[in-house]
Amino acid sequence: MQETEFIYVCCQRGAEPVLKAELEREHPELRLAFSRPGFVTFKLTTPYPKNFVLRSTFARAYGWSMGRCSGEEGDALSRQVVELIGNAAFDQMHVWERDAAVPGHAGFEPFPTELAQCAGDLLLSAVNEKRDRPLALNRMASPDQTVLDVVLVEPNQWWVGWHVAGTIPARWVGGVPPLVRDDEITSRAYYKLAEACAWSQFPLRKGDLVLELGSSPGGASEFLLEQGTSVFAVDPAPLDPEIAEHPKLMHLQMRSKDVRKKDVAGSRWLVADLNVAPNYTLDTVEDFVSNQHLHLRGMILTLKLTKWELAATLGECRERVKAWGFDIVKTRQLAFNRREVCLVAIRDRMDLRSQRR
Ligand SMILES: C[S@@+](CC[C@H](N)C(=O)[O-])C[C@H]1O[C@@H](n2cnc3c(N)ncnc32)[C@H](O)[C@@H]1O
Repeated sequence: MQETEFIYVCCQRGAEPVLKAELEREHPELRLAFSRPGFVTFKLTTPYPKNFVLRSTFARAYGWSMGRCSGEEGDALSRQVVELIGNAAFDQMHVWERDAAVPGHAGFEPFPTELAQCAGDLLLSAVNEKRDRPLALNRMASPDQTVLDVVLVEPNQWWVGWHVAGTIPARWVGGVPPLVRDDEITSRAYYKLAEACAWSQFPLRKGDLVLELGSSPGGASEFLLEQGTSVFAVDPAPLDPEIAEHPKLMHLQMRSKDVRKKDVAGSRWLVADLNVAPNYTLDTVEDFVSNQHLHLRGMILTLKLTKWELAATLGECRERVKAWGFDIVKTRQLAFNRREVCLVAIRDRMDLRSQRR
């Protein structure tokens, strides 16, 4: 596939200003070209390698932009896409719709939409007509496969691009992990933690002991218990009864600062999702990380952006956590995050290697 002059970036709806500010800092070679809530394109002023990776917390999915197709009829739009891509070779085709709302708002979640499925079906027959090796629709890409991307920015405006699936989220359709479940979950924190673990390949293992700060009503605990871990769940608020009664969970119904560290000694991982500003979350967590009774090997923290301006302090947050002795510290605004980001820290990168194996 041929690199182009433009790249596209998908992000959470409303996160475009912080995404632009972040890319201006981290990638001054990019020039803003086109912007809609949740979808932005940039012009390159220096060449990028075809498998480029952006230094970004807020970019959910991105790749090379080949241009847009406009029209009222799906068939005509599909033919435009076919014309645009010509004979270029792809391994996969991902078709998704720009987020209609902020995740968690009024029941919206960034799951695959019906419109994307319909458009994808139309595209599939059009694109495969002249291909020896037919493409499948919306399968998870294998590492380093080349993916044709079609983003429905509007129902009548499809943006076409491609990317190399060089990272875990780049293998998912639109950077959203395939987490759809038919049964009900205790809270949407279930999805956040599942996504955080999948994105970071967090080395959680069956039998591990996890300390969870801010656990009510219990979606994250539900995920942890499903993984076969035991949980110290700290929250003054009650847990969903099914979670609270689980034999592998102990609810410490109190504020984090009132937990006696000796009582949670043996915890290997820490998960925190407190509805307070990032600095308070980090103060609370530091109290545990620096305690002599605890030897925490990794953490998954939700940092609430109680106002968007806090996005500019994420670099300081990462530096602060690194200074506590963590080898790997990274942030991402997860597809299932609301106005918040996820920070993952791993003390020893060898833990991550053994997980990958
Ligand atoms: C976003 S909710 C957590 C959702 C939860 N992780 C789940 O899986 O359903 C935030 C929780 O943090 C708790 N919280 C806030 N400050 C806290 C503190 N200092 N110690 C413990 N819990 C706290 C609140 O009571 C609230 O239940």
